[in-house]
Amino acid sequence: MYKMKYQKVSFFALLCSLYVQNCVADNEIENEPLVFKPTEVKGPVVEQFLGDWTERWIPSHAKRFVNGVEEMSYVGEWAVEEGTSPGAVTGEQGLVMKDEAAHHAISYEFDEPVNDYEKDLVVQYEVNAQDGLNCGGAYLKLLAERPNGEMSNAVPYRVMFGPDKCGINDRVHFIFKHENPISHVVSEKHLDSKPASHLKPGITNLYTLVVHPDQTYEVRINGNILRSGSLFTDFLPPVLPPLEIYDPEDLKPQDWVDEAEIPDPNAVKPDDWDEDAPRMIHDPDALQPEDWLADEPLYIPDPKAEKPEDWNDEEDGDWVPPEVPNPKCLEVSGCGEWKAPMIRNPNFRGPWTPPMIPNPDYIGEWIPRKIPNPEYFDDEHPSHFGPIYGIGFELWTMQPNIRFSNIYLGHSIEDAERLGNETFIPKSKVEQSLLVKQKSENKPSMHADEEENKYLTLFLDAYDTIKAKLPPSITDQLDPYVATIAQSPEIAIAIFAVASSVIAVVITCFYYFSSSSSSSPAPLSAGVTEAEKEQQAKFRQEDENDNIDVSYAPELESTPKSEDVNAE
Ligand SMILES: *[C@@H]1O[C@H](CO)[C@@H](O)[C@H](O)[C@H]1NC(C)=O
Repeated sequence: MYKMKYQKVSFFALLCSLYVQNCVADNEIENEPLVFKPTEVKGPVVEQFLGDWTERWIPSHAKRFVNGVEEMSYVGEWAVEEGTSPGAVTGEQGLVMKDEAAHHAISYEFDEPVNDYEKDLVVQYEVNAQDGLNCGGAYLKLLAERPNGEMSNAVPYRVMFGPDKCGINDRVHFIFKHENPISHVVSEKHLDSKPASHLKPGITNLYTLVVHPDQTYEVRINGNILRSGSLFTDFLPPVLPPLEIYDPEDLKPQDWVDEAEIPDPNAVKPDDWDEDAPRMIHDPDALQPEDWLADEPLYIPDPKAEKPEDWNDEEDGDWVPPEVPNPKCLEVSGCGEWKAPMIRNPNFRGPWTPPMIPNPDYIGEWIPRKIPNPEYFDDEHPSHFGPIYGIGFELWTMQPNIRFSNIYLGHSIEDAERLGNETFIPKSKVEQSLLVKQKSENKPSMHADEEENKYLTLFLDAYDTIKAKLPPSITDQLDPYVATIAQSPEIAIAIFAVASSVIAVVITCFYYFSSSSSSSPAPLSAGVTEAEKEQQAKFRQEDENDNIDVSYAPELESTPKSEDVNAE
């Protein structure tokens, strides 16, 4: 009775949610196809891949060495072309990696290096994984040397920034190189808490990195600041070495007692403690069943067996019939010698050990003394990366048709935002509305044999829809949970058979209201409210905790690109 009622409510809720979603999609104003207009934004580098792009960008087919050993060379081809995904802007050109499972390299060498420490450094570009991206990089490098047309992993960089994805290992890197002013060793500093890429097939994402002259940075995705903080504190290994280190010469004194507890020397083994008592004994209370046949053997010679005719007693020995289970034993509890079953011995105690007591001689944990770090140096300006001679892409990808467009490199956050407002925002609006439409049209075409994944599918679809409407700072937090649920559908089915209709309705309502009040991507503006900062701070902390949980995001060490990223 109760169940019937629930099913009716649930069915009604599902119908409602589908109905509302369809209404939303149908009421969406049909978007005019967008037509590209070259930007007026100026900067050291504003790249829209117009007619003369071949004068700047040189594809590389250099050989590729890893630890001095030649590996696959850069065979991947590049093209500059219009986008192929449904929301693409007519006439807008982008740089596209054309080959699957290939290394691609290309570079743009500037006439004048970009090098102004007094101002913000801003790098921004759009990425569209037009056919999806399961495993591959989409980051760019700001080059420390001119590659002379031979871009490769050997060309040193100042900054590496952008998405990198393989399976559920999905992040946006920000790595900068820092030179130790004493040893002059250059090392990589990796942003510790990396945001997810938020890449989705056919959907354009805008990636922005800002480094301020006050040694702080921002990582923005689609105009939302997902990470911000200090170059000194948020990177691994840290930019500055510790002021003090433990003195390597200071050794623990021989007579130092650091055992906090010892076995009580006065404790005596109790008299009734029998160390030899066995763990298991025969049950003394068990009785031999009345029908037990103690004198019957378990096996008897097979009465039906006959000596084969060709049996030769002299050669084969005496003939013995084979044995079969005694049929009399099958009708009763058992035959042969009866033994009581084994049970736990209530008197079992095991070896006696004295109890532990505080050690009267305990001094404490020994810690070597600290001395000033002889390798310490101070650097007030890790943001002085050095002159940037060009931009290079040097990437491995499993999926082809990853597209880069509207690159900005310069010193003006405002110009980057203006470019984003012109190119990314209108395109993103079209893409998001097409995505919603596509989702709602696909809904009824579910196969009957997918019945048992229905609730999970519904949930994931709803999540995808709402994700497009939420700032990545929130979806970043939700993603791990959703991934966990998606990986164990048997749990999910059980839960969502009950919960999905409710969730779907709530999500749809949320979506309905948020879509009628504001457009999908956040307008690009530099202002960050205190509340936002607070939220970020909280998020950063949670994300750090997330990083500890390796069960959710195992590092996929075997991906070919990881060596570049991790190489010191
Ligand atoms: C970008 O667009 C938003 C929303 O229209 C606006 O508030 C902001 O000032 C724009 N930014 C620039 C630099 O034009």
